[in-house]
Amino acid sequence: MEKIELNHIIFQKVKEAATSLGLDTYVVGGYVRDQLIGRKSKDIDFVCVGSGIELARKVASLLSPNLKVNFFKTYGTAQFVWEGWELEFVGARKESYRKDSRNPLIEEGSLTDDQNRRDFTINTLAASVNVDDFGKIIDPFNGIEDLKNGIIQTPLNPDITFSDDPLRMMRAIRFASQLNFTVAEPTLKAIERNKERIGIITQERITTELNKIILAKKPSIGFLLLDQTGLLPFIFQELSELKGVDYFKNQGHKDNFYHTLQVLDNLSENTEHLWLRWSAILHDIGKPKSKRFEEGNGWTFHGHEVIGERMTQNIFKKLKLPLNQEMKYVQKLVRLHLRPIPIARDEISDSAIRRLLFDAGDDIDDLMMLCEADITSKNESKVKRILANFQIVRTKLREIEEKDHIRNFEPPISGELIMQAFDLKPCKEIGIIKNQIKDAILDGDIPNELNAAQKLMFQLGEKMGLKKVV
Ligand code: CTP
Repeated sequence: MEKIELNHIIFQKVKEAATSLGLDTYVVGGYVRDQLIGRKSKDIDFVCVGSGIELARKVASLLSPNLKVNFFKTYGTAQFVWEGWELEFVGARKESYRKDSRNPLIEEGSLTDDQNRRDFTINTLAASVNVDDFGKIIDPFNGIEDLKNGIIQTPLNPDITFSDDPLRMMRAIRFASQLNFTVAEPTLKAIERNKERIGIITQERITTELNKIILAKKPSIGFLLLDQTGLLPFIFQELSELKGVDYFKNQGHKDNFYHTLQVLDNLSENTEHLWLRWSAILHDIGKPKSKRFEEGNGWTFHGHEVIGERMTQNIFKKLKLPLNQEMKYVQKLVRLHLRPIPIARDEISDSAIRRLLFDAGDDIDDLMMLCEADITSKNESKVKRILANFQIVRTKLREIEEKDHIRNFEPPISGELIMQAFDLKPCKEIGIIKNQIKDAILDGDIPNELNAAQKLMFQLGEKMGLKKVV
């Protein structure tokens, strides 16, 4: 008999509550799965044959006197948080989603009914918290076997499981990415058949799954499956448009979809930062719109970084990703991703380096990481050469930063100061003077100091016919 350890005090309290209420109760789904594969989890789902809300209230009262239990009467679910553990309770149910709606029809059911309506065999596992067989695993769909063999498949006919909740198509791919599992062929084929149904799912739920795919160790696994099953154009049209190679006069360009995935994987080896990973996904997103064939030059993508920056905003809006500093950060990296490349050249001036430091600010290291991940050539000596160049870039950046402290540079002259110096009301001259002082510092014409900046301010004002306040 397969058993799992349920040592935590929570399970003792649930056992006590279940016994006193006379409810058959089980831990079910993700927690059991994660325990068996040694993955840490602080979410526990309990299912009981009877009222989940009543059980939740009893458990809460045994754990602590004043716990607030949230419940949803229509769904028969209850939830509360205790010492960082998120506990959810539900009465076992038979459930079926109507074809055209996300609102389920719910009826009370047995544990088996409840297991039947879950998404994948590895998520149907239940472990008893009842006195007689505490810890015993109930595994009607050989979920343990699939867990051992690394297989994602639905417990029922996949067409039924996916029609109950089409988001499960993305969940299948998300679990395959997170766990490095294979999606069984019939399940995969069913995703292909049912892909259009993803259209009834809210953007928020889709984006949550997408971000989980992006945060997997090797995100390309998920994106390749999204592409292979045909889901990708439904959830992320712009990315799917990177796919394909055009030929003109026998010359092709690289396939930017596979290139982007390679960049994302490369980057993901060095960071778990979601938005930095997003910048890899979007760094070349402007390429299809900027693609030209130029006589003598072959395929070019001039300005794709600017188009990409603009597209980033539309994509973030559409996918309901955050539109504040996270989006601005991704836009910045997309816009700047080509800038470090020429810096390695000998003839590059210090001012170009200062400008890059100024434009990238504190994100300069992330930008360098993205640039290095962007090297996907198969030619090893070329890769070595480019990497060596980026080492030169890093050294130059460090030297200039140590000398000039540009990274968090705020020009020493504020608009306020300019107004006082010439007794001005807000006007465009203030902006012009401010900008020219900033440029002079970045170009190395004057040092990054108040005195020098003030001197230049008076010179510029005089040229513009402004009267200095004495
Ligand atoms: N479940 C399901 N269909 C869904 C969502 C969830 O059948 N569309 C079931 C699965 O049995 C799942 C459980 O509900 O294991 C809990 O769901 P959730 O907390 O979303 O996922 P986990 O499996 O716990 O995984 P993770 O925490 O990584 O999201």
